[in-house]
Amino acid sequence: MRRSLPKKGLSKDEILEKLKEYSKEDLDPSSGKLFTIAFESGIEEIRDVAFEAMKMFAFKNMLDFTEFPSMIKMEKDLVDVAVDLMHGDEKVTGTFTFGGTESVFLAVKAARDKFLLKKGFTIPEIVMPITAHPCYDKAAEYMGLKVKRVKVNEKYEACPEAINEALTENTAIIVGSAPNWPFGTVDPIEELAEIALDKKIWLHVDACVGGFVLPFMKKLGEKIPDFDFKIEGVCSISLDPHKYAYTPIGASILLFREKFYKIYSQFANLKWPGYPIVNPAVLSSRSEATLAAAWAVMNFLGEEGYLNLAKKILNARNKILKSLKEMDYKLMGEPSVILAFTGNLNLFKLCDEMAKRGWIFLPQRGIEGIAPSVHLTITPLHEMFVDPMLEDLKLVTEKIKDLPPSESEKVLEVFGMIMNLLAPGELDLSTIGKILEDIEKMAEIYGSKLLETFGLEKGFPKEMAMIYQFLNAFPPEIAELLVNYIVVEIFHRGF
Ligand SMILES: Cc1ncc(COP(=O)(O)O)c(C=O)c1O
Repeated sequence: MRRSLPKKGLSKDEILEKLKEYSKEDLDPSSGKLFTIAFESGIEEIRDVAFEAMKMFAFKNMLDFTEFPSMIKMEKDLVDVAVDLMHGDEKVTGTFTFGGTESVFLAVKAARDKFLLKKGFTIPEIVMPITAHPCYDKAAEYMGLKVKRVKVNEKYEACPEAINEALTENTAIIVGSAPNWPFGTVDPIEELAEIALDKKIWLHVDACVGGFVLPFMKKLGEKIPDFDFKIEGVCSISLDPHKYAYTPIGASILLFREKFYKIYSQFANLKWPGYPIVNPAVLSSRSEATLAAAWAVMNFLGEEGYLNLAKKILNARNKILKSLKEMDYKLMGEPSVILAFTGNLNLFKLCDEMAKRGWIFLPQRGIEGIAPSVHLTITPLHEMFVDPMLEDLKLVTEKIKDLPPSESEKVLEVFGMIMNLLAPGELDLSTIGKILEDIEKMAEIYGSKLLETFGLEKGFPKEMAMIYQFLNAFPPEIAELLVNYIVVEIFHRGF
């Protein structure tokens, strides 16, 4: 049923009651039980400091920095901190965005525009390891670039030879991660930089995850390869306060080695009869709230705070690593703040069983040549929770390790083999267009049935293993269409 505005406004109490009801099924990010998505320090005062700052600035709009110059001051402070952590010199400049994806969009736009201005019209290419975040594919899809993903080495790190081989005269940008999201491994940026310098190609370092934590882990003696502006050839770096600087969601920073590079990332327009537009970010109107909160939290914690929090992460991570080894799980490369493991059992079921005990792990589907795995993002808060989590992991491992695949799993496996035979490799645009047309017709008829099959009609099911296995049975392009369709339906219907 469609809702409309209440005839008469609700009271504050009624509103808060209703919102509480809406959030009844949400997980609690500060529970310490989420091993993905939630970047929690475990320091309660952070929330107070952040909320106070947000209150002061929520209704101020960064769109017009002449009206609210506070944003320039706060942004400059945060950029300075990021430059310092990334060993930038006086020339390095940056911008504040609302998230890693937005920073990446701007880095890709800058590299693309710089490349096209020199090269003239062509379709520019992004070359990156298979482990790079899909926000690069998203940027490419939005901005008309082509992506080449290449294999990683046996340690799940970028393979410089494979990157080098994939370069063409149309390569506008190479990407390396510090670390990547799936496995938490850090790419050999120094080697990528040599190639980039040699071929005069823009090198972007994605330190969205690691930018605010790896420097502190290094100070504590962890062996982490250099990945920042110390390395000649690194043109831009993205790093997200809303991840390991523990600030409210909606905060990322993009740094450029040269001040002039930033111009390529911006948008200016004086072609309309209105005010002159100059946007340093993708969005135009933006609340100052998350910028102020990031400023507040980072200054509240200071260097000492971040060092202490990095210590907690290492304690938690090392305990988990030891336990995983004892349980015979196989690590996917050298982990950092993220780790991933695989094993000879149904990992999707393992995640479901852990979720029944309240622990949220992230199952990863794998791709050809890379086994499915389980991803854990380790945060300082986990130091307090690893022991009970590992106890449960031992129990669950015992419980599921000898379970034979169910009948439906066997069917899915065969189904997957057939699907991959029918549509191997990449699908071209016209085939996808045709499938999309068919899906549109079929969705009207079978849409409800599909949601029912997945148990998605009334909310998210407690067990996701079947969905993951089902999606794994399809070639990625078909699976992408399916998940797109399901998400449109869910948002349209609401629960
Ligand atoms: C390595 C990496 N880069 C970029 C992003 C995109 O960041 P955001 O979700 O803030 O847009 C992520 C998100 O997890 C990431 O892990």
